Formats: sequence, structure tokens, C-alpha cells
Amino acid sequence: MTREEMIRHARQVLSDNDRGTYTVPTKGLYPFQWNWDSALSALGFSHFDEPRAWTEIETLMAHQWDDGMVPHIIFHQPDDGYFPGPEVWGTGREVPTTGITQPPVAGFAVRRILDRARDTGLAAEKAKALLPKIHAWHQWFYRARDPQGTGLVAIIHPWESGRDNSVDWDDAFKRVPTEDVQPFTRRDTAHANPEHRPTDEQYKRYIWLVQKFRSLDWDNTRLHDASPFRIVDPGFNAILIRSCQDVADLAARLGMDQIAAESRDMADIGIAAMETLWSDRMGQYLCLDRSIGQLIESPSVGGILAAFAPIPKDRAAALAQRVMTLAKTCEYLIPSHDPGAPDFDSLRYWRGPVWLIVNFMTANGLERAGETVAAERIVTDCLRLIETSGFAEYYDPITAEPCGGAHFTWSAAMVIESLNTCELAA
Ligand code: GLC
Repeated sequence: MTREEMIRHARQVLSDNDRGTYTVPTKGLYPFQWNWDSALSALGFSHFDEPRAWTEIETLMAHQWDDGMVPHIIFHQPDDGYFPGPEVWGTGREVPTTGITQPPVAGFAVRRILDRARDTGLAAEKAKALLPKIHAWHQWFYRARDPQGTGLVAIIHPWESGRDNSVDWDDAFKRVPTEDVQPFTRRDTAHANPEHRPTDEQYKRYIWLVQKFRSLDWDNTRLHDASPFRIVDPGFNAILIRSCQDVADLAARLGMDQIAAESRDMADIGIAAMETLWSDRMGQYLCLDRSIGQLIESPSVGGILAAFAPIPKDRAAALAQRVMTLAKTCEYLIPSHDPGAPDFDSLRYWRGPVWLIVNFMTANGLERAGETVAAERIVTDCLRLIETSGFAEYYDPITAEPCGGAHFTWSAAMVIESLNTCELAA
């Protein structure tokens, strides 16, 4: 496939999944708007339709809650093909949404789209309107998800991480009960191979948490402390820190001084606190199980994605080394879990497969830190995966088997973004 053909295919995927003011990740399996999917997909749109890129992020931010939270799914239109739908979440919103959030990558996306905008007037106007909302979301994180002021925020549901069934959560997840879960029928396994998806046991716990939060009226002043699942994920925090940094830079440029100063503070505090998650032994960052105050010794990509934040140079160098070590254990970077670890599963969702969005953000961070060899290897592997297996949701890191849903929006967006922006991909 030539570069032009690849971009043409990718644009086709985006336009097929475009619902006018938002995109669905893929038809069938995910028929609504997902939070971080939208922010990252906007990057793809911005190369050929800047107004449409802005609309994607505006639609997402239009559903922000009063407390600042931006939900992980917006159920724009009813669809029976998805579980758990609005009736399970019961958040009582006019346009229904879930009551949990997802990695806050919108700040990064806005800055990136503005930086290279052809229509600079439009970009400045759009960014000016979006920044206060994104900033309020960031502040919500540190208020609601870091009540002790540690500098790092916790997720309270695995779906918030975006890495739904990562091995990282296994032990902490055992603390989530399965009793009193209302009977339900999964829909995901009708759209994708059950072998590629989370197990039924995991689904019961996902739903237990939803029921618990719903019983607390989705009151974010109570959810953090009430959740038996509270994990500090380095990848998630890195995305938040990077977005705070990008908002700070943009706000300074646009004369929004208070937002700039507050964002800079949040980023600085976050970066300093990330050090508490570093493991010399594993050569990467680790998750912290906040409920028991212990690091989780699980070699997953969450601790490598931390390269997306402005971490110290020596940490970025160590992560680059970690990536190159992983390259010896599989054919395609970056496996979501270390292939040498006992729980690695090359096909099952976030327990082994490669995800292009994680690759993109990790490569972006490593490149910024001057770790070009590792960054280049990651980008090359993304393009090889697309050539071999098309725009899948995720891929087996050993065989390149396409997994999960097909014709996937953010995989396509990442290809457009990498081919257009990354010198390494030229
Ligand atoms: C899955 C992924 C999540 C993504 C969603 C929509 O749930 O784990 O990260 O946002 O699908 O693509």
C-alpha cells in the first residue's frame, strides 16, 4: 500500500464512522461517542477538515457535567446493540451519558490542532472557547480524584483508564464484589470474538461498580472514597499532565493568564509525584493500588505510556530502553502487557495486544525526549500492522492478527496523524 492509499483508506474509515457532529469508534460494537476516542480522532480530521475536527471536541465538551467531569460515553442516540446502556447508568442527563470519565487527552489535541492550523483565526476562537472547559475538567480531576492532594489522580473504574481489562487491575478488582449484580446480557460478544474480549466474571465486577456509583447518585464528592477500586495509573496521569502542560502553553499564548498559571502548577506537581510510581527493578512506572497503598508489580504498557508526559530525561531514556527490550519479545510494538509475563494473552484486549493510540502517544513522548530510535521503531510497527491487517481495534503483537472491532476510527486517525506529522514515518 502506498502512503496515499493508506491515507485514502483511513479517511474512508473516518467518514464512514462520522455521525455529523461526532464519530463512533466503529459501527455495531461501539455505537456512541467515546471520550478519548473523539479527542484523538479529531487529530485525524484536522488534516483534511479543520472545522470538523473542532466540532468533534466541541460535541464532547458540550456534555461536560456541572462539576467539571467529562463523561466516557455520550449516548447520542438509542441503540440496543450496546451494554451497559443509559438505563444501567441512570445518570439522569437529558442526553444520557455514563457517570465515569476517560483519559483527558483533549487538551493535548486542541493544542496540536491549533499549532498547525491553516485557519488560524478559527483555531484561536475555538481554542479560547474550549480551554476554560478543559481546564475545569482538569481541576475536577485533582479535586475529585485526588482528595488527599498527592498530586496523582485515581481511576475508580477500569473503564476510566481506557485499558479496560489490563492485568494491572486483577488483584484490586478481586476486591470488587459480584453479589447483587442485576442479571444482564452482554452485547459486545455478539460483535467481536469472545476470545478477544473481557471475561464474564470481569463484566460482573464492572457492573457492580456502576450500580454502586449509581446508588450514590453519581455524586463525585463521594465516589472516590466509596469505591473499592482506586488505582493510580501512570499512563492516565501522564495524559492528564501532558494536557495540563499543553493547556498552560496555549492559555499563555491566548492571554488567559490564570488558566495558564493554574495549569502549569498542576502539571509541575503531577510530574514530581510521578516519581513515586517509578520502579528501578522493572525499568518503568507502575500503577499504585491506592486502597492498600502498594505499587502493582505488573509490567504493562501503562507505565511506558508515561513517556507522553514531560518526565525527566533519564526516565524517558529508561523507557526507551524498555521498549527496545520488549521489541525482542514480539514482532510488533508495543504489547499492552509484557509477553514474558505469566498473564500475557496476545489476543485478549488490553492483556497483550497492540493499540495504535497508545503507540502514537508513547512515540510522541519519546520523540520529544530525543529518544528517536525507540520512537521510530514504534511508528514503523504501526504502519506495518496497518499494511498487514487493516484498521483494526487492536492487534496480536506476535502475529499481527486483527482483533476486536474492524474499520476503527482512532486507528485510522492515528495513521493519518503519523503519516502527516511524523518525520520518522516519511
Ligand atoms: C474500549 C477501549 C476504550 C475505548 C472504547 C471505544 O472500551 O478499551 O479505551 O475508548 O473501547 O473505542
